[in-house]
Amino acid sequence: MTQPKIAIETRHLTRKFGDIVALDDANISVRKGEFVALMGASGSGKTTLMNILTCLDSASSGEVWLDGVNATAFNEEERREFRARHIGLVFQQFHLIPYLTALENVMLAQYYHSVPDEPSARHALELVGMGHRLEHLPNQLSGGEQQRVCIARALVNEPPLIFADEPTGNLDEENERKVLETFQHLHDEGRTIIMVTHNPVLGGCAERIIRLQHGKIVS
Ligand SMILES: Nc1ncnc2c1ncn2[C@@H]1O[C@H](COP(=O)(O)OP(=O)(O)OP(=O)(O)O)[C@@H](O)[C@H]1O
Ligand SMILES: [Mg+2]
Repeated sequence: MTQPKIAIETRHLTRKFGDIVALDDANISVRKGEFVALMGASGSGKTTLMNILTCLDSASSGEVWLDGVNATAFNEEERREFRARHIGLVFQQFHLIPYLTALENVMLAQYYHSVPDEPSARHALELVGMGHRLEHLPNQLSGGEQQRVCIARALVNEPPLIFADEPTGNLDEENERKVLETFQHLHDEGRTIIMVTHNPVLGGCAERIIRLQHGKIVS
């Protein structure tokens, strides 16, 4: 039985693409409320692992447990359902709708999940320090502000697991710092965060670093 305090656990997780073993017998365990950085060279398997953990892909063999649920054998619909309820995603590219305001972009995520609810969308934007920019369009916001709208969008449905793949990859230092502060604030609130990064400064801000090398977990 998986302990309820474990948010994410993989057992002998392997993902092959033809002859390529992108993920090789990976065992990881992440506690609820932990802030983990996932690091490794280009091609080491970070995105492959993230795609399986976020139910966008499934493994060739091994098991994945998310919030105590065995997600290994989910079919397409179960994966979609689980993702909507349990997972918030932040990408390097912002993927904001250009003709919708910050507030509307966040409310759109609610619409896809359940029903739009303006007060809680406002609250999510306030939480990431964007309460003063609700009516701005994406092109009226700085890169860091756009990324914080994306974080609000990932948070608004209250997912217990937050995944970010290179969330500051497109940002300058100042905006990187603000986005990082936002993640640290969310961590202080007790959310579980897994962040892929190449940046050792960002990695150093996490509680723990999981390192991948040629598809294997090395620490
Ligand atoms: N859909 C696919 N088909 C074939 N090979 C793939 C596929 N996706 C990934 N790979 C291979 O699996 C390995 C791991 O790729 P992955 O994208 O997980 O690396 P990464 O650590 O995220 O790299 P980066 O830091 O460049 O984003 C690479 O050798 C890659 O070429
Ligand atoms: Mg990648």
